[in-house]
Amino acid sequence: MPDALFAHPRLAAVYDVFDGDRADLPAYVRIADELAARRVLDIGCGTGCLAVLLAETGRTVIGVDPAEASLDLARAKDPRVEWRHGDATTLPPLDADLAVMTGNVAQVFLTDEDWAATLRGIRTALRPGGHLVFETRRPDYRAWETWNAPPRTREVPGIGEVEERFEVTEVRLPLVSFRVTYTFLADGSVVPSDSTLRFRGQDEVAASLREQGYRVLDVRQAPDRPDREFVFLARAE
Ligand SMILES: C[S@@+](CC[C@H](N)C(=O)[O-])C[C@H]1O[C@@H](n2cnc3c(N)ncnc32)[C@H](O)[C@@H]1O
Repeated sequence: MPDALFAHPRLAAVYDVFDGDRADLPAYVRIADELAARRVLDIGCGTGCLAVLLAETGRTVIGVDPAEASLDLARAKDPRVEWRHGDATTLPPLDADLAVMTGNVAQVFLTDEDWAATLRGIRTALRPGGHLVFETRRPDYRAWETWNAPPRTREVPGIGEVEERFEVTEVRLPLVSFRVTYTFLADGSVVPSDSTLRFRGQDEVAASLREQGYRVLDVRQAPDRPDREFVFLARAE
């Protein structure tokens, strides 16, 4: 079950506004250029920001996500993308040149089994020699220590002012749990969402990729978040 943050219709509807300008995404379009990828699979596509950017470049794009409410928003943005409800374990062979996971989707897989099953599912969807590119937060940056920030309020078109409060609820490494609470100021309703993310180190991620039949080609920086993320570039062998 995806978190309410993505699956609750009222929260999915405010995601893009709180997520800001998405300075993280152009780097992934550049990687798709670099790899000459024409057929791209966006796993955990959410509200579809990257999938839409990729479709605008003329690529064939498939976006998959288990959160129907986020997918509904994505569908309304761009009919050129093939939007699929599900996750990587439900994918058939898709002959994709490239699979991507942005927005730290890789951290939602809490157990080794779920992560391994996801990597296997992605490999099924890729063509032989296809690439997998994804980011995951570096544990040594300890991002969660910055998450207890003061509440933020944003004006969401069609919805009005919404306040977001962030609270780290448990740090039990490699797992970090947090609650995000949204207050819709127009009607006073309050909707919380609880999440847990797993922080994996570079060697652990590299080993998990090798175990599932990928070759790690590179581990890069996210240009908009230097020293905070590992960006893995792997190839299905
Ligand atoms: C932080 S959002 C990132 C969304 C999008 N990739 C982006 O960059 O805007 C995390 C996404 O992972 C999705 N997700 C949760 N569990 C998943 C799973 N098992 N497989 C694939 N995606 C999943 C959520 O529904 C959500 O859309």
